[in-house]
Amino acid sequence: MDPAWITVSISLLLKCVECSGTATEWTYAGAVGQAEWAEYFPDCGGSSQSPINVDTSQTLHDPTLIPVQPLGYNQPGKRPFSLSNNGHTVQMTLPHWMGLAGLPWHYSAVQLHLHWGNGVGVATGSEHTINGQSTSAELHIVHYNTEVYANMSEAMTQENGLAVLGILIEAGEEINQAYGSIFNYLARIRYAGQKVTIPAFDIQSLLPDNLSQYFRYNGSLTTPPCYQSVLWTIFNERVKISHSQLMKLETVLYSSKAEEAEPMVLQDNYRATQPLNHRTVLSSFIPVSVKMYTAGEITAIVIGSLCGCIGLAVIIYFIVKTFRTQDVAKEQDMALKITSNPGKPEQDAPQPET
Ligand SMILES: *[C@@H]1O[C@H](CO)[C@@H](O)[C@H](O)[C@H]1NC(C)=O
Ligand SMILES: *[C@@H]1O[C@H](CO)[C@@H](O)[C@H](O)[C@H]1NC(C)=O
Repeated sequence: MDPAWITVSISLLLKCVECSGTATEWTYAGAVGQAEWAEYFPDCGGSSQSPINVDTSQTLHDPTLIPVQPLGYNQPGKRPFSLSNNGHTVQMTLPHWMGLAGLPWHYSAVQLHLHWGNGVGVATGSEHTINGQSTSAELHIVHYNTEVYANMSEAMTQENGLAVLGILIEAGEEINQAYGSIFNYLARIRYAGQKVTIPAFDIQSLLPDNLSQYFRYNGSLTTPPCYQSVLWTIFNERVKISHSQLMKLETVLYSSKAEEAEPMVLQDNYRATQPLNHRTVLSSFIPVSVKMYTAGEITAIVIGSLCGCIGLAVIIYFIVKTFRTQDVAKEQDMALKITSNPGKPEQDAPQPET
């Protein structure tokens, strides 16, 4: 038998074993990295994928988009929350009474998790970008549609099944106590598969203050199996955590299990932005578009302004000169009149001739 044929069959066989099993080990970079996801999880190659770059010069303002209303977010209850490291992210389960109103359906909260970078160079780590700009991290709060579907596992594969809130996170000076309620326990779940219970806290304090300014579009889960079932809400206002909190998030967790010989730091767990493919991104407000100019445009603007300034200077010069000339003429006139009528009082000089 042709050895090449055997290799092909074996690799096909292996692929099929992987694709039929639920245990395909996907990663962000590597053998089943994001460029390969679609081979194993067909929806990842779909045309309505997330995340996306939000180009605010292309968003459509929809004045009917009312503020997002978190329900029960600030009633955490007394039962502790469960926080786990699943090898891809840190995830926390949310009580079923938390939900969202202000969307086309009623949604019930399921879990929240984060995406982040590696702390080197410019801020990267968020999944969504706005006008091409990343932030250091992004929080996702996942909800399912309880009006249409029986449970999360049914909803996550279906149209309009999920609603996810996306919160862009950047680093600042001050410690964010709300995020601290999660970050303070990361050291207890360093390895994949570990879990810890943490005191319940106010989930609303993880959100930005302004819940009325956001972008809305139809997209997908940002991890395999990438189901295209998500109605996304990306808040315009960013949330700040401290530099040391960010560093903790970027360095404390491993994507490997405790028993593995070489620990792998859990970093850069964000997916690249996906093509928009004719989807519309709605905005609940009129974004202040920060227009980026090309070198040519900048040259034109500089030359234009210079010409304008020179033109203005010339005009001012002539106006001033004209006034000066008139004033000089008047003065000379006056002087002449005074000198020609030396004996007369001054008030008699401008007598009209009748
Ligand atoms: C979810 O709902 C579907 C449809 O009602 C049902 O078949 C399935 O067993 C439920 N799954 C879970 C995990 O409850
Ligand atoms: C999302 O898709 C649904 C159809 O399933 C459509 O009715 C809705 O307008 C879309 N929303 C946005 C924000 O594009």
